[in-house]
Amino acid sequence: MFPLHRNRRLRTNESIRSLVRETIVTPNDFMFPMFIAEGTNVEIPISSMPGIFRRSLDLTVKEVKELWSLGIKAVNIYVKVDDTLKDNTGKEAWNPEGLMQRAIKAIKDAVPGMIVMPDVALDPYSIYGHDGIIMNGDIANDETVEALVRMAVSHADAGADFVAPSDMMDGRVLRLREGLDSAGHQNTGIMSYSAKYASSFYGPFRDALDSAPKDADVEVPKDKKTYQMDYANRIEAIKEALHDVDEGADIVMVKPGIAYLDIVREVKNAVNVPVSVFHVSGEYAMIKAASERGWLEHDKIMIEQLYCIKRAGADLISTYFAKEAAILLNE
Ligand code: PBG
Repeated sequence: MFPLHRNRRLRTNESIRSLVRETIVTPNDFMFPMFIAEGTNVEIPISSMPGIFRRSLDLTVKEVKELWSLGIKAVNIYVKVDDTLKDNTGKEAWNPEGLMQRAIKAIKDAVPGMIVMPDVALDPYSIYGHDGIIMNGDIANDETVEALVRMAVSHADAGADFVAPSDMMDGRVLRLREGLDSAGHQNTGIMSYSAKYASSFYGPFRDALDSAPKDADVEVPKDKKTYQMDYANRIEAIKEALHDVDEGADIVMVKPGIAYLDIVREVKNAVNVPVSVFHVSGEYAMIKAASERGWLEHDKIMIEQLYCIKRAGADLISTYFAKEAAILLNE
């Protein structure tokens, strides 16, 4: 008998295809990354990320209400800090009246159900554009972790549901958990950027926040390779994720997305907590640029990539496409 298997029967038409579909993406899967600026009625386009803006709090709140009405349940927030507030200690990061702290309050006041996950890392506050404190030519791990604890506690004080450490220092999840608990924030979750690679896909994000590593008067590393992971490594990602789960992470993250889906699947198989994936700025920029030239079909590529990320093992996806994709998926 030929052929022995007629696998195409299950692909005959859209009805049977939808009945046997293994993965389904909905707006419930999305987190939306947002860039926040000082001022009122401010909306600055990010040139390398068409459709993405740095917005003041009033316009951010308006946008969050719209996201909520589309079914999006979480936002990841990042702030653009004035240069005059930057130093090597990053102390503006735990100012109770800082832009991040005001943003968290404003969003939670306007849309209490929205899960607010501020980024915990010093780069937007660092004169050197690094995620931690520079000492003797490198990022000082333990001193940085203590600064991150103060930062995370101030986020929880402002009403954050989760804190999201993206700094890749060792031991930070354990210290954040202890710090949050002893400040009375037992219910504040930790979504750890566990397997975060030193990737060139973050370029447009650093444009948005002016947070790239900078030349300095003292010796500083020119890139983030002493803390973010080497993209040649796979087993190390599992080690990082298991350590973070062990230290108390509620959700672990793999970042970037599309080029790292092998890592997503391995981490998913190795841990017993939800896995999130950051579909990062450079991945967004590539799709926007190619489709502006008419070389790729924007909406189809966008949805395909989100499905592929979920199929690889993502329980949550942080994506700049969240709003556009939610609108399409809700149709
Ligand atoms: C900062 C941070 C970065 C991103 C998220 N948090 C940049 C970096 O590590 O340099 C990148 C996100 C993106 O590219 O969309 N710690």
